[in-house]
Amino acid sequence: MTTDPRALPGADPHTGNREVDPVTGYDTTGHDWNGIKELNTPFPRIALVALVLSFLIALTGWILLPAWPYGRDYTRGLLGLDQGEMAQEGARAMAGIRQDWLGRFADPDFAALAADTALMGLSMPAAGRLFGDNCAVCHGRAGGGVPGFPVLNDGYWLWGGDPETIAETLHYGINSGHPDARFAQMPAFDWMDRADRAALAGYVAALPSGRADPASAAATLFQDNCAACHGEGGTGGLLNGAPALTDDAVIYGQDVGTVMKTLRGGRQGVMPFWSDRLSAAEINLLALYVSRLSVETGRRTE
Ligand code: HEC
Ligand code: HEC
Repeated sequence: MTTDPRALPGADPHTGNREVDPVTGYDTTGHDWNGIKELNTPFPRIALVALVLSFLIALTGWILLPAWPYGRDYTRGLLGLDQGEMAQEGARAMAGIRQDWLGRFADPDFAALAADTALMGLSMPAAGRLFGDNCAVCHGRAGGGVPGFPVLNDGYWLWGGDPETIAETLHYGINSGHPDARFAQMPAFDWMDRADRAALAGYVAALPSGRADPASAAATLFQDNCAACHGEGGTGGLLNGAPALTDDAVIYGQDVGTVMKTLRGGRQGVMPFWSDRLSAAEINLLALYVSRLSVETGRRTE
């Protein structure tokens, strides 16, 4: 590519310095650092071409696409592209499709909704995202629960797992401060003898394995103090939100230590109400989704 450098106009015409390096055949610049001389090599052509090309590409971009801001506006380019507008259009189209099927959930005929497989195919993934955004912080992803926040995918319920009951729980919450909220309270038994509490804790901890002795003094204590809410033998009462103590589902924990804590301090979990944050259709959508979680995990069959 390079021709004879002596012919290039790069050589300094003022100093007339055209000393030629005998090895490379290039001029030197005339600078001399302790005997090391600098060659006057020409600017590489390929870099020049790249520079010109990128300038041309940028220029085309300025002409075709939105580029320069001025005041409150900007040059819009010949193509008139507006990504903000495009994104909004996309979102409107999605919302339109969603509105079509979401509207169906305004009518809480859950059996009909669940029977419509096409509708379920559209709506359940969206319900999963709604759950992820609003419920997973407390109930865990996919409703797996964390201590203090009940598991929603195991088929055991405080109030009931049919979509109608769940929708009501969602509308009003539990101990949520809403005037129609469900109320549930595990009273503190700090007035009770510590020895009795310890006996009760041992009895309750042994209930799920079926090893609790129904003839023991602790069983009598349970009968007298707890059965009113937790049911005969601890099988639970869906009317007051008291959990069954005989199954393997727990909120706080059913080991002796945790039950002692529950008895000493009482418990009153708060489930917020959603009627001001989600539409009725969204609540119905979530209710149907939650009611099916335990079927999906295989922990309950339909
Ligand atoms: C701030 C935490 C929190 C959030 C957020 C939350 N929950 Fe809850 N939820 C709870 C607690 C705590 C309970 C149990 C209340 C109790 O102990 O009595 C509960 C109970 C429930 C129950 C009753 C379960 C049963 O066995 O009857 C359902 C259903 C439920 N939540 C669904 C949801 C859904 C759906 C969402 C999202 C829209 C949600 N929750 C968001 C804390 C929360
Ligand atoms: C007034 C009704 C009521 C009475 C009486 C009552 N409980 Fe409860 N208990 C509840 C409610 C409601 C909850 C759930 C609290 C919550 O979800 O925050 C609960 C929760 C519990 C839990 C926690 C279960 C878990 O999954 O972590 C244990 C253990 C328990 N009760 C044991 C007892 C024992 C033992 C007695 C008797 C000494 C008793 N309860 C008396 C209403 C009652």
